[in-house]
Amino acid sequence: MKTPAHSKILILDFGAQYTQVIARRIRELQVYSEVVPFDLPATEIKTLRPNGLILSGGPASVYDRNAPHPDPEIFSLGIPVLGICYGMQLMAHHLGGQVEFSPRREYGAATLHVLDGSNLFQGLGAQLDIWNSHGDKVTALPRGFHAAARTENSPFAAIENPERKFFAVQFHPEVAHTPRGKEILQNFAYHICHCAMDWTMGSFIEEACDRIRRQVGEEKVVLGLSGGVDSSVTAALLHEAIGDQLTCIFVNNGLLRAREEERVQRVFGENFHIRLKYVDASERFLGALKGVTDPEEKRKVIGNEFIRVFEDAIVDLANENQQSEIKNQKFRFLAQGTLYPDVIESVSIGGNPASLIKTHHNVGGLPEKMHFELVEPVRQLFKDEVRQVGLQLGLPKEIVYRQPFPGPGLAVRILGEVTPERLSILREADTIVQSEMEASDWYYRVWQSFAILLPVRSVGVMGDQRTYENTIVLRIVESQDGMTADWVRLPYELLARMSSRISNEVKGVNRVCLDISSKPPSTIEWE
Ligand code: XMP
Repeated sequence: MKTPAHSKILILDFGAQYTQVIARRIRELQVYSEVVPFDLPATEIKTLRPNGLILSGGPASVYDRNAPHPDPEIFSLGIPVLGICYGMQLMAHHLGGQVEFSPRREYGAATLHVLDGSNLFQGLGAQLDIWNSHGDKVTALPRGFHAAARTENSPFAAIENPERKFFAVQFHPEVAHTPRGKEILQNFAYHICHCAMDWTMGSFIEEACDRIRRQVGEEKVVLGLSGGVDSSVTAALLHEAIGDQLTCIFVNNGLLRAREEERVQRVFGENFHIRLKYVDASERFLGALKGVTDPEEKRKVIGNEFIRVFEDAIVDLANENQQSEIKNQKFRFLAQGTLYPDVIESVSIGGNPASLIKTHHNVGGLPEKMHFELVEPVRQLFKDEVRQVGLQLGLPKEIVYRQPFPGPGLAVRILGEVTPERLSILREADTIVQSEMEASDWYYRVWQSFAILLPVRSVGVMGDQRTYENTIVLRIVESQDGMTADWVRLPYELLARMSSRISNEVKGVNRVCLDISSKPPSTIEWE
């Protein structure tokens, strides 16, 4: 099957904080959009056949000695270009205009006065609220350009050369403070670049399956399934593409939530009929964690143990299958649920703008050690897109919309030593938190909701008895991406119910506290 070519807009990344947001906005228009390094050669850009280019903003000044500049040939490709902020200054600078250095930033809301006839502002009326954040400004236009909009402070708030399809704005159309910014991007994508609305998750699935089949051929693929959204959707997608060539390994590290191993086996083994190897390594992990109290040490122990268990599981699989119908069970490929933000978060300006994959959330170290080739079928997708793919592939809502859960599991929520007794206390408390969050319809409205077990005992009273028991902390946060977070103001009745159920039902707990810290300065997990 031929891969369908779809419309696409490439965003050259000049180091703006919100380059990803531009890509998301464009994708919301059902047009595929990808962030690429600012210095991608024009010849390579040409082979990617984009319908349009966006030059992002960035902190530099075009006159800085180390300022990032694009390949000037991009302006000769005949492809429409939209410059945003620093991207506008670059465009003016490279095409013969003037940019003036300004040590003073223009920052905040402004009113844009649109001049007649610009395609970029088509249908948007004469005045728009916009958001500015720039220092330098364009003071003389390149040949063939004219002003398309102005603000009180700038006669060149938007400029254009419609013949060559070059457009630029000094403000930020991608941020929420420019309420009609999406329509500006829409005009660029649909009317100027003539993009079709062909980026849908249905078309993605078809394309991704095709790509997977071409990459792996007849070979076998192994995937470490955690039960989280990313690895689950990756599993479902690979299964759709290559069926039984995929084997998933699910490791029970003994640090899972209550009945998690049952849930994962039910969803993937029973409903999806995915080849699933379940490895109960809980004793091995708990043994390795004995006496370990330092948070970093815990993570290290768990990470190393995981690699060993995973390696052993693969050897076992190969042996098991020598006797079975699938011969030649050598796994050449390792699949990972790397997402788009993991890939582009690491693009840096000034240093080396190589895309480095964050190993934090993935199986760090495995591919190099075991000479696997990687299959990363969702590395083009944002989280919300991964969820849509999951739903379209028939994954249940309980998997697709589940809250993030850290790889090292409950170990980072048990302060001090991890023991079977303490795990059991935390699991019971955690189950109550989850069930109350679900019953009250709060579960899907927050980023994470969980319990933490402190190594602190305090005095209490139960009946006529004095108790001296453990402390549970409730951590319920809202967040966009886990980078920053705030504690959720849950209704008192819900908090009261969780508290009284935990202290009444969980043996060994007589006190429940609420964590009211935001991130920063605190982190979401306690260790
Ligand atoms: P922190 O605690 O750093 O967490 O504020 C931010 C987000 O990342 C999750 N997290 C992890 N996820 N492996 C993971 O897969 C880890 O080692 C890990 N540590 C933290 C955390 O649950 C939160 O959503």
